[in-house]
Amino acid sequence: MKRACVIGWPVEHSRSPLIHRYWLKRYGIDGAYEKEAVRPEELARFLGLLGAHGYAGANVTLPHKEAALQLSSVADEAARTIGAVNTLWLDKAGRLCASNTDAHGFITNLNAEAPDWNKGRRPVTVLGAGGAARAILHGLLREGASSILLANRTRGRAEALAQAFGPAVRVVDWEDRHKALTGCGLVVNATSLGMTGKDPLDIDLAGLPTDAVVADIVYSPLETKLLAAARERGNRVVDGLGMLLHQAVPGFARWFGVRPEVTPELKAHVAATLG
Ligand code: ATR
Repeated sequence: MKRACVIGWPVEHSRSPLIHRYWLKRYGIDGAYEKEAVRPEELARFLGLLGAHGYAGANVTLPHKEAALQLSSVADEAARTIGAVNTLWLDKAGRLCASNTDAHGFITNLNAEAPDWNKGRRPVTVLGAGGAARAILHGLLREGASSILLANRTRGRAEALAQAFGPAVRVVDWEDRHKALTGCGLVVNATSLGMTGKDPLDIDLAGLPTDAVVADIVYSPLETKLLAAARERGNRVVDGLGMLLHQAVPGFARWFGVRPEVTPELKAHVAATLG
């Protein structure tokens, strides 16, 4: 029996088991996907014994995403650029390999839901400068976005990202986020604002072209106030759940040998558990 797990501290909130167990059943695979609550000080030991615990690999969630990169033997380009990992597997030689599939998840979902998001190569506005924003910048630049405006409450974090990603990324003040939308083809909320229990994202969409795409990484609730407001004025919207489902695909394929599909049925299965 093949086994994988999600490693976090805490780990209880993770939706990964719901997704991977759905696919195990769907494809009739004799496998298991567990939750492993691992304290930060125990991570190195746990990963050293991953194979001995019977795992083919794992997902990694907070607060281990950076530490797991340091502890892996081989990291792919996405993991190195983003500086954090969410997917681990053991290769034939037993080496711990690492990837970050968040950029892949975001872009695959965006291309599926709004394939012409980069038509005309208009500027993109990204809000936020945490780990999620970093993955999204990596994905957008790889996909050919030529001009990204980055706004974050703490300006210094946005500046650090702009420095890391080069001149295609320009920082705008958080107070100027509304103005930044003028002429944009895509706006992405990569902050945690809008999540259940948090303040909504306060942004005036008046300057955003009505044919622009509005994407949110928040998936609980599925339709954030940002997406509802965007839909109301005629913009196409892309929710955060699609990214969550697509980022899970490469890990499942590695551990269980089947590349799983993200279907409306899976989306409904996970959405039913959201607020
Ligand atoms: P993640 O790694 O998931 O992106 P994070 O590093 O905690 O998480 O980043 C959360 C993002 O939401 C940050 O961009 C944060 O802004 P700061 O860098 O200024 O902290 C943003 N964020 C969270 N709460 C916010 C709020 N009340 N107003 C504006 N931005 C907020």
